[in-house]
Amino acid sequence: MTDASAQTTPASGLEILRFASGHMADALRLSQQVGWPHRQEDWSLALAVSEGVVALDGTRVVGTACCTRFGAVALLNMIIVDEAMRGRGLGRRLMAAVMDLASGSEMRLVATAEGLPLYESLGFRATHRIFQHQGIAQAATPDLPVRDGTVQDVAVLAEMDHEASGLERGALLARIAAEGEVLLTEGGFALLRDFGRGRVIGPVVARDTSAAQALIAEAARRSAGTFLRVDLPEAAGLSEFVTSLGLTHAGGGTAMVRDPRASGAGEFTTFALVSQALG
Ligand SMILES: CC(C)(COP(=O)(O)OP(=O)(O)OC[C@H]1O[C@@H](n2cnc3c(N)ncnc32)[C@H](O)[C@@H]1OP(=O)(O)O)[C@@H](O)C(=O)NCCC(=O)NCCS
Repeated sequence: MTDASAQTTPASGLEILRFASGHMADALRLSQQVGWPHRQEDWSLALAVSEGVVALDGTRVVGTACCTRFGAVALLNMIIVDEAMRGRGLGRRLMAAVMDLASGSEMRLVATAEGLPLYESLGFRATHRIFQHQGIAQAATPDLPVRDGTVQDVAVLAEMDHEASGLERGALLARIAAEGEVLLTEGGFALLRDFGRGRVIGPVVARDTSAAQALIAEAARRSAGTFLRVDLPEAAGLSEFVTSLGLTHAGGGTAMVRDPRASGAGEFTTFALVSQALG
């Protein structure tokens, strides 16, 4: 993420360049402007495994878009245009640039209502809803034993995650495991880390609902009295369960795909995302 070599766009006064570390402060300002909870550390985690582009108005960053390749799948994320610059085609130009970075891969993203029409026009189709739940976690008791894991477990966990999601993201999981907590139960695992306003649990990958519920209950127990977030794919069916732990529905998005190839059909299921950006 340190290469600032330019791909200049002649169509207007705005340039589209590769995202470089010097753009971070402005990028953080943009995500705060749209009300996203990312801290600088959250941007850094995303950028550690991503490439991206920025739109520059002079020296000021007025748009961002990132591409995170996890094996055969590229996730497009952090797509933001400064509110003063919207509706002039900049979002479309950023998408063209970031789709170039992703070319040859299956592309996935989680769309906001504002982004959805643009993505549909670019060939993405909706696959399912993502439900964002958050709140002050209530103490809970898991119905199955949950124990601590370590970074040493990540190679095996990454295989389970790949089976569930089609994403090859062992390096990301190792990074999260090194900074956060690894929760293990029979037939599943979860990662718990600091994010945004508090903590987030994800991914939650398990063979069945009862294992996923035990992992989430343990995360709530460990986070009781503090802010906890979880992003659930609709099919996980855990909205009611997490609401009972104090994590109420707080929006979400629409998962979309373009050129689908990877199959996530295996023994394991993704019950919660790392984040809407990172799948
Ligand atoms: C989504 C976003 C990036 C679009 O940026 P933008 O610069 O306004 O987009 P563009 O001007 O290139 O418009 C792209 C197309 O989407 C359409 N569009 C943009 N905003 C729209 C809206 N709110 N409702 C319906 N259509 C919309 C435009 O009409 C345009 O279509 P056209 O090219 O056929 O005329 C911008 O609204 C944004 O930053 N929103 C807040 C953050 C966000 O939600 N990001 C998406 C995360 S997945």
